[in-house]
Amino acid sequence: MATVRKSRRRFLGTLTAAIVAAMGVGRFLSPRVGHRKPLLTVSAAEVPHEGALVYREARVALLRDGGEIYALSLVCTHLGCTVTVTPTGMVCPCHGSIYDRGGGLLKGPATRPLPRYRVETQGVKLVVFP
Ligand code: FES
Repeated sequence: MATVRKSRRRFLGTLTAAIVAAMGVGRFLSPRVGHRKPLLTVSAAEVPHEGALVYREARVALLRDGGEIYALSLVCTHLGCTVTVTPTGMVCPCHGSIYDRGGGLLKGPATRPLPRYRVETQGVKLVVFP
């Protein structure tokens, strides 16, 4: 009798694992690195040497520092307002946090810098990924 119960348990365990695998639950448990959709694709020539190329709707700014082009999130790390790009950096209109051109925090109430997005060069295009 005990052998039948063990066998039944083993069978049910195997059946459950097969159903979970068939439902594709595993894809939700693994990281999806490299499968993210790009936020933007722009021509590298469009990024000005001074100032920034701002995509207000996407809340992203592309900036150039010497030969490096980088993308910053314009979402304030305090409470999520959209920061404004100024000639010297970024200012949040909601509560006054100030960030430098690299996204570094200069003045709170925010406590973290602006996140940078990954920028990939594809020929003459720049692709910005979240
Ligand atoms: S949301 Fe930007 S300082 Fe508060």
